[in-house]
Amino acid sequence: MKECRHLAIIMDGNGRWAKAQGKPRTAGHLVGADNVRTIAIAADELGIEYLTLYAFSTENWKRSSDEVGYIMKLPAVFFKKYMQEFLDRGFRMNILGELDRLPASTHKVLDEAMEESRNNTGLNLNICMNYGSQREITLAANAYAKDVLEGKAPLGIDEAGFEKYLMTKDFPPVDLLVRTSGELRISNYLLWQIAYAELEFVPESWPEFTPDVLKRCLAEFSERDRRFGGVKNV
Ligand code: FPP
Repeated sequence: MKECRHLAIIMDGNGRWAKAQGKPRTAGHLVGADNVRTIAIAADELGIEYLTLYAFSTENWKRSSDEVGYIMKLPAVFFKKYMQEFLDRGFRMNILGELDRLPASTHKVLDEAMEESRNNTGLNLNICMNYGSQREITLAANAYAKDVLEGKAPLGIDEAGFEKYLMTKDFPPVDLLVRTSGELRISNYLLWQIAYAELEFVPESWPEFTPDVLKRCLAEFSERDRRFGGVKNV
């Protein structure tokens, strides 16, 4: 099977899934958070090394304050339930996004999860919270400009040099990006990192995205002919 080292997922459809069950949108987010654990374990067992999940975007602040407040409290619930299991499995937690703009209590829980797992060498479970790709690239450009002004970086770096300023600097490029729930958009996610990723859009909502659906995605990925702009080998 073609190797998928880095899988990124846009976890969409929690709200619609909950509504279809006659439940509030927040019920979908709770089931969605539990599914993060299920899919992280499945991904690890399938040999994926980096799993990068879009939990809350820079645009998601536009939602009702009740919904935003609920999502901000989810990391505490999630790590209380599952952190020990993640540590036992050797998972390393990385949180990507502008964390200092999150509520202080959320920021603290996320920092603790990163700190507790920082020496682990298993699956990198990357959760994007208050993440937006355009914001990430803008911050990187500003950080680079500052380094140039301070004489810490030369003028005229290449792509590899610029990548060092991105939040994903420690990770390889994304091999496969999956979006659940049938929407055909990228929604400001990992725009730099998906330059040569394969894209898959599945009809299942995030709560319905089971390990079997993940296997189906990886099987489809392994059928793709990745040429990275080159010519097909015959
Ligand atoms: C998209 O569905 C989902 C979100 C914006 C939130 C995703 C959050 C989680 C899955 C839980 C996060 C987990 C942790 C550990 C913090 P939607 O609400 O846009 O669904 P809709 O398109 O049906 O409205």
